[in-house]
Amino acid sequence: MSSLVYDNILQTVGNTPLVKLNKLTRNSPHQFFAKVEYFNPSGSVKDRIALAIIDAAEKRGDLKPGGTIVEATAGNTGMGLALVAAVRGYKCIFVLPEKMSEEKRAMLRAYGAKVVVTPIGVEPDHPLSHYSVARKIANSLPNAFLTNQYHNPDNYDVHYRVTGPEIWEQTKGEVDVFVAGVGTGGTLSGVAGYLKEKKPDIKIVCADPIGSILADLFHHGKIIDPPGAWKVEGVGEDMLPENCHLKKFDDFVKVNDQDSFDMTRKLVTEEGLCVGPSSALILVAAMRYAEKLTKPSKIVVLMPDSGKAYLSKAFNDKWLVENGLAKPEILKTAFNVEVKAEEELKKFNI
Ligand SMILES: Cc1ncc(COP(=O)(O)O)c(C=O)c1O
Repeated sequence: MSSLVYDNILQTVGNTPLVKLNKLTRNSPHQFFAKVEYFNPSGSVKDRIALAIIDAAEKRGDLKPGGTIVEATAGNTGMGLALVAAVRGYKCIFVLPEKMSEEKRAMLRAYGAKVVVTPIGVEPDHPLSHYSVARKIANSLPNAFLTNQYHNPDNYDVHYRVTGPEIWEQTKGEVDVFVAGVGTGGTLSGVAGYLKEKKPDIKIVCADPIGSILADLFHHGKIIDPPGAWKVEGVGEDMLPENCHLKKFDDFVKVNDQDSFDMTRKLVTEEGLCVGPSSALILVAAMRYAEKLTKPSKIVVLMPDSGKAYLSKAFNDKWLVENGLAKPEILKTAFNVEVKAEEELKKFNI
């Protein structure tokens, strides 16, 4: 068999492309490169940690044949775990907050997982938070394994061992700034851990939604503004996960929902990158951070997932209007324009 044939789908996790941005950043003296993680088989960066966490759990004997994988997830980790579970023969139960998109929930069900939905706006230690519910299910169910992505060091470790080196090799060591968001913190901390060893003066920047407590913890060591609500999924936190190593970060840039959703639409129409709103938030943060730089720099931006998971939100004009996020100039793209063939042909007098 040729080296291009894989034994199973899990071998295609990682090695995602690094793609130069051309139009959106044309007025900048810097070069921006997107690490496009939707090339992973279930569509996000989380395939990397799903595979690594399950590999390690099997090796330690924490997950046994026929066992059930339980996780509190924004959706993408669930998808990655469900993918690994399908190939390796495990069952899955995922607990996610109500705000997560219907596409993600439908995908999890399609992979054969049970989806448990928790209310929005409950404190992390509330008995109905997605963290608490997942923990209780894992403790009560025989032969269950809680992957515990927020605190499990195998999450940090795979980004340190694999994602960081990929970026280093793809840029031939010429990366000056790395920007990503924090959900669990595994991506930004793990990549930072590796890149800082290679190049101590690299700048590691966290893109954080307004409403997240992480920037306060970074700048002041305590929460100044109480956690708020934001619409971009997968980034920002109301608690500090053990996988988030704030000491490895050099700066934070806060971005609001409006700028994130506007940029989501521009990324696909101008760069052909159909990515999710968190990717857009991260790019906005990177472009703002770049304004501080005094010499032309190479900036790598990690884009965690695909826009396909947000068709009912970021790419749905009605949802944007209902959520006060619609801007006329952004809505005037080709999106969501669907007409009957008869009407279209009439325009041409056919
Ligand atoms: C949708 C999505 N998934 C995953 C991640 C990566 O998060 P983590 O900090 O858990 O590695 C992010 C962060 O940007 C994200 O937006």
